[in-house]
Amino acid sequence: MRLDQSFAILWVVFTFSCIKEMNAGSCGNRLSRRKDIDHLRETLQFENDEQKSEISSLAQQVSDINDKLSTIKEDIGDMKSAMTTLKNGMSQPMLNSSEITDCGEDSSYSGVRTIKTTEGRLFSAYCEQGWTYIFKRFDGSVAFNLTWSEYKKGFGETNAEHFIGLDNLASLLKQRNYEIRIDLATWPETNENPSTRYAEYSDFKVADESDKYRLTIGGYRGTARDSMARHNDTEFTTYDRDNDKLKNASCAKKYKGAWWYTECHDSNLFGLYSPQPKCSGFGECMTWRHWPGKLLPNKDNYWYSFKKASMKIYRK
Ligand SMILES: *[C@@H]1O[C@H](CO)[C@@H](O)[C@H](O)[C@H]1NC(C)=O
Ligand SMILES: *[C@@H]1O[C@H](CO)[C@@H](O)[C@H](O)[C@H]1NC(C)=O
Ligand SMILES: *[C@@H]1O[C@H](CO)[C@@H](O)[C@H](O)[C@H]1NC(C)=O
Ligand SMILES: *[C@@H]1O[C@H](CO)[C@@H](O)[C@H](O)[C@H]1NC(C)=O
Repeated sequence: MRLDQSFAILWVVFTFSCIKEMNAGSCGNRLSRRKDIDHLRETLQFENDEQKSEISSLAQQVSDINDKLSTIKEDIGDMKSAMTTLKNGMSQPMLNSSEITDCGEDSSYSGVRTIKTTEGRLFSAYCEQGWTYIFKRFDGSVAFNLTWSEYKKGFGETNAEHFIGLDNLASLLKQRNYEIRIDLATWPETNENPSTRYAEYSDFKVADESDKYRLTIGGYRGTARDSMARHNDTEFTTYDRDNDKLKNASCAKKYKGAWWYTECHDSNLFGLYSPQPKCSGFGECMTWRHWPGKLLPNKDNYWYSFKKASMKIYRK
């Protein structure tokens, strides 16, 4: 633009002097000089065009660099936020929302959940509206006349018949105070009304293996009457680990189960599962002796085997 203006000025000056000196006959000379100027102009114009394209190429490069800089800036921003996330993650323990310390942590849920107790034991449990199941029996698909090590670990299918395991139970109960509820259901042919009853205990503790899973139970309320009081402050017994109070025999062997036996039992909920109301042997099945009334005509309730039994705990 400035170059064009200077040529215009030059051109005007030249033309003016040529016209002015025309009479003196020196314009021809001037005209040859005009050709030189035209040539110069062309040369300069060419150089100008070259500079222009160079400038625009430079401008393009600057713009490219700017783009790259903003990409780098974005990357740095991403890295900064990743560092922050990492830092926060390291300053607090890893949270896993799918793990809970007991079913009371998500009382709207029913089904199998992974439990991780505060001391770090990991196992699965069956949850029902805030209740954590300790065992469940309803069809006899799982045998309960098992060994000490099986009771220690737990067995069965968590979403079907199962026992949670004594180590897991002790670990759960250490976390806070729980109440326990035992639910029982009779066989339809027994014609009991009601056919289901329950026993709740406000005190419930199970010690570690070092104290042979000693049971503390008390504070009964319910409808099934208390068949656990006799078992307060007793150690756990299986057919291969005799901790009962019977001097010359094993209650577990005698009554085909495992339990917190004394000189045997008022309840034997880990006894044999009978496919019918009457047990094949005295006190050998899923027994609850103090159920109100007689469950079998002219027979002690020791001869009765319930259709369903379960035990579950709830936060106090
Ligand atoms: C969360 O816990 C569940 C169950 O233990 C496990 O399968 C899953 O991998 C865990 N998730 C993370 C992110 O740790
Ligand atoms: C457990 O009970 C079942 C069914 O009565 C029986 O077949 C099995 O032999 C028993 N097992 C033990 C170890 O007593
Ligand atoms: C259960 O046994 C413990 C320990 O001996 C005792 O302190 C508690 O009072 C007993 N509970 C009941 C209800 O008898
Ligand atoms: C074991 O004790 C029972 C009573 O609980 C008794 O009937 C039986 O005779 C005793 N057996 C021996 C070998 O002492």
